[in-house]
Order: sequence, then C-alpha cells, then structure tokens
Amino acid sequence: MKILITGAAGFIGSLLVDLLRHDHDVRAIDNFSTGDVRQVGDVTVEEMDVAEPEHAAEMVRGQDVVVHLAGYTGIPVCENDPEGAARNILVATKHLTDAAVKAGVQQVLYPSTFAVYGIPPHHITEETPRAPIGMYGNLRAGAEYVLLAAQKLDGLPVVIFRQSNIYGRSIAKKRSLLNILVEQVLKREPITMYGSGEQVRNFLHVRDTANAFKLAIEQRATGLYNLGGTETISVRSIIQTVNDAAETTLGYTVPVEQKPDRGAAGREVELTDFHFDISKVQGALGFEPTLTVRDAVEELLKREASVA
Ligand SMILES: NC(=O)c1ccc[n+]([C@@H]2O[C@H](COP(=O)([O-])OP(=O)(O)OC[C@H]3O[C@@H](n4cnc5c(N)ncnc54)[C@H](O)[C@@H]3O)[C@@H](O)[C@H]2O)c1
Repeated sequence: MKILITGAAGFIGSLLVDLLRHDHDVRAIDNFSTGDVRQVGDVTVEEMDVAEPEHAAEMVRGQDVVVHLAGYTGIPVCENDPEGAARNILVATKHLTDAAVKAGVQQVLYPSTFAVYGIPPHHITEETPRAPIGMYGNLRAGAEYVLLAAQKLDGLPVVIFRQSNIYGRSIAKKRSLLNILVEQVLKREPITMYGSGEQVRNFLHVRDTANAFKLAIEQRATGLYNLGGTETISVRSIIQTVNDAAETTLGYTVPVEQKPDRGAAGREVELTDFHFDISKVQGALGFEPTLTVRDAVEELLKREASVA
C-alpha cells in the first residue's frame, strides 16, 4: 500500500515509518518545526508543511492511506503559542482532510488525545463526552470534528486514536516525563517531583502505539478508540520505578526534590485516580500493550548510559 505519514520526523512518526517501510511504499513528510529525523532506513523525510493547502494536496496525491501525525504536541506549547497551535493542529487537519477526500484516499488515521475529555469521570470510555479545557484538547477535539464530518458527508474512512501519555525509546528524541527523569538520574542530579506526586498518568509505550496504527491499517479499520496502556500510575511511583531501575542498572539512586506545581501555562489536569478503558480497541483490533514502564525505564537508562 502507498502510505503517507505526516509528522514523520517526530517521536511516533519516525518509529512508524520504520515499522511500515518494509511492507509498504511509505512517503514521509515533516516541516521539521520540532522533529529532526531526516532519514529512516531507505526513507527520506521530505520537508513539507501540512498547513499549506498546496503542499497538503501534493503530499496525498496517489496515496492509499494517510497517517496524520503532524502537529503541536502537548499542553505547554499550545498555551504558549495558540496561533501556531491552531495552524499546525486544526488548519493543517482541515487542509489534509479536504485533500484526502479529493484524492480518494481509502483511510485516514489520526492521533487525538485523552485531553479531549477535560476533567473526566473515573471511568473513561469513548462514550464519555468531550469537554476539553485547554487549547490542546480543544484543537484536537476540533480536528476530530473535521475528520468525522468528512467521514459522514464524503465517506472518508477515518480512524481516531485518543492517546494517553506515550513514552519510551524511539528514533526521535522526546522530552517526555520519563526521559527527563532518566536524564536527571544519569547526571546524578536530584529528581524533581512537581506538586504532590499523587497525580496519575496512563502510559503507553511508543512501540505499542506504532503497532496500533499498523494493526488499524492492515485491518482497514474505521472508528474512534481510546488508545492507552494498562498501567495507570502516580508520578511518585514512576519516580520510585526510575530509582529502582537506576539501582539495578547503574548501582546508585538519587534523592527526590519536591517543588510546587509549575503554574497555569502547561499545567495538565491532575487526576489522582482514573480508569482509561481500552476494551474497544482490544476487541476491535486485537490490540494489546506489550511493554511495561519498568522495561522502558531500564532500556532508556542502558541506552543513555552507553551514549553518555
Ligand atoms: N506523544 C504523546 O504522548 C501524544 C499523546 C497524544 C497525542 N499525540 C499526538 O500524536 C502526534 C504525534 O506525536 P509525537 O509525540 O510523535 O509528536 P512530535 O512532536 O514528536 O511529532 C510531531 C511532528 O509534527 C511535525 N509538524 C508540526 N507541524 C507540522 C506541519 N504543519 N507540517 C508538517 N509537519 C509538522 C513536527 O516537526 C514533528 O516532527 C501528535 O500530533 C501528537 O499531538 C501524542
């Protein structure tokens, strides 16, 4: 199949290019605003901007499948640069969707976020209403509506994954919570814990994430799915896991320094307990997370220690 991957220089995109390039004809594009991977095996990442309508039209021409990973990622950047966020998330998705409809693309896959639920109830399913509270969640919810409208009105087959926190080792580097903790340990600096540490997150490994996209493409799926892991753990226990792994892998631990919450710009909703229900994607696609946070921390520690 001919598969276009936007955001291919980024954390999930670069890994997905690598996963699909052996069995498919992959076209990879990115504007390199944050991503920096220029080459994945035999695939060169082309410099193009999805938010430019003529670029969007050119990149989808002749493609069977589009995986639209390009965009601003996370709450802080969207709060600090709302215009850029609107352009790179909502406007980009609008142009790509219009181009995909015109080009007769057979499937568009989109990574939304569980931030579209805002402050959700304890049990989060796909039926939980959207109630985003920040720019990031609002723009992703808007992008979902753009795609779902094209599905309804133009028959564009769409897959939307509402992703939790993606972590782990990819080709592109990512400054996610875990990677920052690992960096602090390797520098033998104290680990910083913002807020109470009781806030919980649901984690999905980047390799499992890329695999979910592969499954959905190969099964020609459509639909909207929560995509997360089976581990929902507090920041305090993640820090403990990092220190335990450091003791096993490096033979030392570092102290933990507690600091107050960093303030409004970039703050995520701090939930102390929730169940991110992934039974729909498990049932429909046969998706199962395979990697644990502990595995990933050990892998990151070993890899970073060997390149330091
Ligand atoms: N990583 C997570 O925890 C997570 C969670 C939920 C949703 N998502 C979404 O999944 C997608 C991929 O996530 P990621 O972690 O790989 O992000 P990333 O920031 O590493 O990659 C996004 C890529 O998009 C590129 N880009 C931005 N605007 C562009 C444009 N207008 N045209 C072309 N390229 C553009 C960037 O240069 C970057 O390489 C993102 O859209 C993100 O919002 C990620």
